[in-house]
Amino acid sequence: MTDMNLEIIDLSREGTGVARADGKVIFVPYTVPGDRVRVEVVRDEGRYAEAQVIEILEKSPARISPRCRVFGECGGCTLQHLPYERQWELKKKGVLHALTRTQVSFEDVPVREFPAADEYSYRNRIQLRKRGNEIGFFRKRSRELVAIERCEIALEPLNERLAEISRAPESGESIVPAAGAEIKMELDYRPEVGVRVAINQPHAAFGFRQVNDAQNEQMRSWVASAFEGCGGHLFDLFGGNGNLSQPLLSQFESVDVVDLTVPSVSPDPRMKFYRSEVLPWLKDRARDFKRGHSPRREKLAYAIVDPPREGLRTTSNGILEALGQLQVDRFVLISCDIDSYARDVSRVLKSGWKLREIALFDFFPQTPHVESAAVFVRVK
Ligand SMILES: C[S@@+](CC[C@H](N)C(=O)[O-])C[C@H]1O[C@@H](n2cnc3c(N)ncnc32)[C@H](O)[C@@H]1O
Repeated sequence: MTDMNLEIIDLSREGTGVARADGKVIFVPYTVPGDRVRVEVVRDEGRYAEAQVIEILEKSPARISPRCRVFGECGGCTLQHLPYERQWELKKKGVLHALTRTQVSFEDVPVREFPAADEYSYRNRIQLRKRGNEIGFFRKRSRELVAIERCEIALEPLNERLAEISRAPESGESIVPAAGAEIKMELDYRPEVGVRVAINQPHAAFGFRQVNDAQNEQMRSWVASAFEGCGGHLFDLFGGNGNLSQPLLSQFESVDVVDLTVPSVSPDPRMKFYRSEVLPWLKDRARDFKRGHSPRREKLAYAIVDPPREGLRTTSNGILEALGQLQVDRFVLISCDIDSYARDVSRVLKSGWKLREIALFDFFPQTPHVESAAVFVRVK
């Protein structure tokens, strides 16, 4: 493939360096604007191409030293060579640009920003692979293992346990897979119980939990502030263990938490958990409410809507219609995917809600991911 010298002039939303040559946009991972690099084109798609750095000819002053020893090899943490302020600017710009592209107008809407206080050592769970005595993560877009000794974004107790497992590879939970076989290993830390290890279990074996405890607290407080002065009934849809509605219990009389996986015991009598798909459950509630069969005493209700990465997709119309029928007066939408967020916000606005506030949370420093939220109020 062709070698060429390039000057990096911009960053893509994912934090990939962008250059131009021969009328073509060239994406160069792990570079920063101001870098001069010699690259090899590894994929040519006509109008754009992807290239790999062979040599950095001149380093940009904007570049910083990554902390991790396998930076550039492991598939995660692709932004470690960018100062944190620059990472945050990139994420914010990415979300706001996606909103503009979906014709969402937000000029008069406050955008609250919650960058992370801890740029490293924040993850409360990590999922590793083990082959023979090697433990690590997958290389990007590959099942090739990149062996690690520690993970810089994981909390320290997880790294301590990882070091123990690596020192005594054949003991207890750290069985060595047979030749050619592979073990999936999830390490999960909670201050109250310490580190637990799940071997070959489904993802989030100890239940879904936001991976960044400090940022989760920020989000819980922000959600609570979005419902200041509200009371009565709250729907916590895609609510998991009720993480986001629990801080609101002193304010609301009753909370319905709906999710495909719910805890077997409710932590509070005011919270009712329903193991169900959100859409059919909500439609049933809307029908009961219309017929006057609902136990709800107040006219208005409130909701939190926190779907998985793909967003509301085909359920958005049905969910929005049911929220309207249930007299939901205000709701908070949360998303961990920029495009799903922009698409869902646009659909909500088209169904007659007003955007009152936007909030952006950095749950995932050193990676391009961002958690985006919005408060919508019913248009009277
Ligand atoms: C981003 S998590 C949010 C969980 C919770 N709000 C929290 O803060 O911990 C998305 C949740 O949606 C649930 N889920 C995915 N698809 C669903 C569906 N069709 N109906 C109900 N829940 C669903 C998952 O089990 C997961 O708990």
